[in-house]
Amino acid sequence: MRVIVVDHPLITHKLTLLRDKNTSSSGFRKLADELVTLLAYEATRDVRVVPHHIETPVAPTEGVILAEPRPLIVPILRAGLGMLDGMLRLLPSAETGFLGMIRDETTLQPSVYAERLPADLTGRQCYVLDPMLATGGSLIAAIEFLFERGATDVTAVCLLGSPEGVEATTAAVAGRSVTLVLGALDERLNEHGYIVPGLGDAGDRLYGVAG
Ligand code: PRP
Ligand code: URA
Repeated sequence: MRVIVVDHPLITHKLTLLRDKNTSSSGFRKLADELVTLLAYEATRDVRVVPHHIETPVAPTEGVILAEPRPLIVPILRAGLGMLDGMLRLLPSAETGFLGMIRDETTLQPSVYAERLPADLTGRQCYVLDPMLATGGSLIAAIEFLFERGATDVTAVCLLGSPEGVEATTAAVAGRSVTLVLGALDERLNEHGYIVPGLGDAGDRLYGVAG
């Protein structure tokens, strides 16, 4: 698995504000949206394109346009929803599929509770969005889901990752075409499976505490 930690002062600046426990939900949503747009620029570096002939007002020329089938963006509900608009801003012609996953806070095991994805992902480039890569359980399950449907390559965009999560994901997807783009690689997981220093529960900070 290729791991890219995007090193840019604007990303670090926005992540610092995002991590701050005093940042409001509306501020958090705005920062997550801005951050994903910055990360998406790096995440789409290998998006497939095809040659395309056009005529400018001055001369004919060859350019490129996005190839078919169009890329598929897959936000992992709930927290990944906070990254969808920012990604679509950069890839407006992409399609979106949804995967709802919840991590059991005792066992830390993920389970899928909702799915709305094309049945056949053959040849599709997929972009998975989830702000947090903690143990890696949720991302690994999501990537396996997409490969089982025929996806050929998957790029995951996460705001924060842990070394444990990166290691587990690297082992689980060995031999597959997977890229992980991170805003930052944090220090470790704590005994509750939370990223340290992290930002807390991303879903709760975006949308409020779920019952
Ligand atoms: C969070 C986060 C990831 C997962 C990461 O979701 O958005 O999906 O935890 O943890 P892992 O790497 O250990 O699997 P959560 O299950 O809290 O659901 P939510 O987005 O609905 O809050
Ligand atoms: N999920 C979160 O939202 N935050 C963490 O730190 C770990 C899992």
